[in-house]
Parts: sequence; structure tokens; C-alpha cells
Amino acid sequence: MVKICCIGAGYVGGPTMAVIALKCPSIEVAVVDISVSRINAWNSDQLPIYEPGLDGVVKECRGRNLFFSTDVEKHVSEADIVFVSVNTPTKTRGLGAGKAADLTYWESAARMIADVSKSDKIVVEKSTVPVKTAEAIEKILTHNSKGIKFQILSNPEFLAEGTAIKDLFNPDRVLIGGRETPEGQKAISTLKAVYAHWVPEDRILTTNLWSAELSKLAANAFLAQRISSVNAISALCEATGANVSQVAYSVGTDSRIGPKFLNASVGFGGSCFQKDILNLVYICECNGLPEVAEYWKQVIKINDYQKNRFVNRVVASMFNTVSNKKIAVLGFAFKKDTGDTRETPAIDVCKGLLGDKARLSIYDPQVSEDQIQRDLTLSKFEWDHPTHLQPMSPTTVKQVSVVWDAYEATKEAHAVCILTEWDEFKTLDYQRIYDNMQKPAFIFDGRNVVDVDKLRDIGFIVFSIGKPLDPWLKDMPAVA
Ligand SMILES: NC(=O)c1ccc[n+]([C@@H]2O[C@H](COP(=O)([O-])OP(=O)(O)OC[C@H]3O[C@@H](n4cnc5c(N)ncnc54)[C@H](O)[C@@H]3O)[C@@H](O)[C@H]2O)c1
Repeated sequence: MVKICCIGAGYVGGPTMAVIALKCPSIEVAVVDISVSRINAWNSDQLPIYEPGLDGVVKECRGRNLFFSTDVEKHVSEADIVFVSVNTPTKTRGLGAGKAADLTYWESAARMIADVSKSDKIVVEKSTVPVKTAEAIEKILTHNSKGIKFQILSNPEFLAEGTAIKDLFNPDRVLIGGRETPEGQKAISTLKAVYAHWVPEDRILTTNLWSAELSKLAANAFLAQRISSVNAISALCEATGANVSQVAYSVGTDSRIGPKFLNASVGFGGSCFQKDILNLVYICECNGLPEVAEYWKQVIKINDYQKNRFVNRVVASMFNTVSNKKIAVLGFAFKKDTGDTRETPAIDVCKGLLGDKARLSIYDPQVSEDQIQRDLTLSKFEWDHPTHLQPMSPTTVKQVSVVWDAYEATKEAHAVCILTEWDEFKTLDYQRIYDNMQKPAFIFDGRNVVDVDKLRDIGFIVFSIGKPLDPWLKDMPAVA
């Protein structure tokens, strides 16, 4: 029986391995992690991550050919194929601080693989890593190999949180990069055979190692760039009276452009886009390409601009002060159908409002109070380290309360900010919300989910990203 071990039981390692186990009953899959609480959660009924469809997949294979364990060394030593899906945070100090990827966890995983291996192995990069990481990993493994042969493959993951199971069942493509030697090609064929259990062969792309590593960074940079492009246009729409939804639709019907990823919003978030672009920028700088680095940096700058612009709209509309005003925040996750809050725009928006001394009442259907408090107190990039290495009990922000109901959050509030596009926010009883709010009652829709005309008829003053401005806001311009 082929044995697979995946180091890192996170948003990528957990769902990816669960789907491999489901689709390949003849393969034994062990997912290992140094975090005891995470592994305990994977072995319980309360999985550590919320992802539609994941529960069913895990239930079907757990204990059959899918195992979650903290016995990292045992499972690595027994495996034929070792996936590495550990954190790759942005460096916070030293060379490349604020841009380069911190490969501490990757390197320690590689050294451990070399230490415990007693048989030849294929080592697969699943984490998103800087170009040429495989070369560094290869060196660590071969210099410590004791005669054992390792083949390194790059197999970046393209799943999107919120639709991870759907994406894994039916991927646009699976990408496998390897050495162009006979041994490298053999390793590619072995991994290809795993995916071929359910992915059509023509969707399994094979490349050299560097192309695979760079393709993942480039794909994320292109996706984030589309969001920053439409967000940049949204600012112009507000200034001119154009409607960003109409503009995006018209632009997206061009088959060369396509309709996806053109929703204007308060900004992109998630653990990957910013980190991977910073990484790309750093690689460009290291390769003597400052113009290319500057070009991609702009995608992040527009994202920051969009979050600032939103905060400024809120404050400017409410007589230039939100001091001591209750503001309801609906949605905290970085997108709907996930509880993931890493780099969510809600963090910067909430911090901006708190900076102006607002009181916040936050509701998100999938995010806990502890997580929200943690996010509002952790410093930049601290979130992307294994949880057991993060501060145990961060100080709580007193002006923030977290409630479990949108109506509770909005009661007696001066304003509502919608920061995640959860479906339930489309169908709330906005008349009831209006009746229980302070007047004038404001709604700032950072995801364009509400029916603006209907809410204006109720009596709300409504701001919706990139939409023609409420007459109220025209007289109160916000300078970003
Ligand atoms: N989240 C996504 O949507 C997504 C999509 C594609 C790629 N990626 C990439 O995949 C990688 C993992 O992302 P994630 O979202 O799953 O991260 P995550 O933080 O959810 O999971 C990483 C896990 O690795 C564990 N870990 C760290 N060092 C370890 C070690 N030495 N031994 C054992 N376990 C160790 C941590 O405890 C943690 O549970 C990152 O490089 C990310 O950029 C993420």
C-alpha cells in the first residue's frame, strides 16, 4: 500500500489530504502536525476549520485510510510520499523583513524528514514558497541524507477557501513541477498517478520545478490584481456617478477578460494574496527588477487605499467623528463560507474605526469572540505562525463586543458596516434593524450585498462601494 504523510494539518493540508484519502481508498494518508489542539480537533466532531462539505469527506475516511496524528516522525519515516504544507509567513525581521517568506518552519520540516527517513522518499512542496525553495530543500535533504534518495516536487495548491472541497473534487488544473532528470520524471509520474484517480489527465500539468513554484505566486498576483483593478475603478465610479457593478459587468462580458473576480469590495484578504505578492516583489528586487517589483507592489497599495477609503467614508459621513458611537460590524471573515480571518479587511477597518474611538459590536456567523480579539491585538504578520507559538491570551479591546446575532449587533447603533458577503445579510429584516437604530441611521456596505434603493426607502443613508453616492455623502467627501 502506498503511504502518504502530510506535514501541516491546516486549511490546505487537512482538506487536500481528506480528498486524496476519499478518492484513493488504496492509499493510506496520515496528516501530522505539531499542534496538539489542531490534531485533537481533526479527530473530533468539531473540525478545526469550517469548510462546506469537509465534514462528510472526513467522516467517510477517518479511521479507514485517513489518520490525524501528532506522531510526526513515525508517519514521515513510514511514508513513500511526504507533502509539506506548513506555514510560510512573511519575515518580520532581518534580511527581507516585511516581504520575504520566512522558511523557518519549512526548513525544520526538511531537516526532520532527513533525520527520520530510512527509505527513499518523494518530498512534495504543497505550501506556497518562493521560487527556488526546492533547490534549498534539496540541499538540506541531500546533505543530511545518509545515502537515502529524495526527489523534490512542487505541487502548489490552488483551492479557494469556502469552496475548497468543490475545487479539490474538480480542479481547473493540478500542477506538478519536478527535475528534468529520469528520477525527477519518475517522481512526477508517481504523484500524477495519485491525482489520476479522479482528475482527468489533461488537467494534470507538468513543468520544471521553478515554473511550478512561480506559477502559484503569479496566479495569486493576477487574481489579487483583478480585485485591485476593479476597486480602483470603484473610487472613480463614486466620483463620477458611474455604477461599478454595471461597469464590471460590461468589462467582464469581453471573453478575453471574463466575468469572475470583478466584484468591487472593501478589499481582498485571506492568508495568501498579500503574502504571496510581497514575496513576488522581493524576488523581483533580488533579481534586479525594481520596475517589475513596483508594478506588483501597487496591487497591495490599492488594497490598503480601499480599506482606508472605506473607513474615511464612514467617519466623514457621520459628521467627521465616530467617537463613542456604536457601530455594528456584520461579518469579520475574509469572505463568506469560511471562518478564516487571516488578513481579513475587517481587521484594518475595525482598527481604523477604533482609532477614531468608535465602539464596535461585531457579528460573524463563523468567527468566535476569542479569534476577533486575537486578530485586533496581534501585530502584523504574527498571525501566520503555528498557533502554539502565538501569545496565549492577548489583551482584549474594551471598545469591542462580539455578539451572536445581527439584530443584537445593530440595536441602538448609529451605523452598520457590512464587511463580509454572507448570504444571510441579504435577507435580514432591515426595517426592524432601522427601527432599533439611532437616527440618522447609516449603512456602509463594503461588499455590495444590500438592495440600496429598498434601504433608502426605509430611511437609511446608504453607502455602497462604487455606486452612485447618496446625496448625504456628496456633501461630505472622504479623502483617503
Ligand atoms: N489557505 C489557503 O487558501 C491556501 C491555498 C493555497 C496555498 N496555501 C499555502 O499553503 C501553506 C499552508 O497554508 P494553510 O492555510 O494550510 O496554513 P495553516 O497555518 O492553516 O497550517 C499550517 C500548519 O502547519 C503546522 N506546522 C508548522 N510547522 C510544522 C512542523 N515543523 N511540523 C508539523 N507541523 C507544522 C502548523 O501547526 C499549522 O497547523 C501556506 O504556504 C499557504 O501559503 C494556502
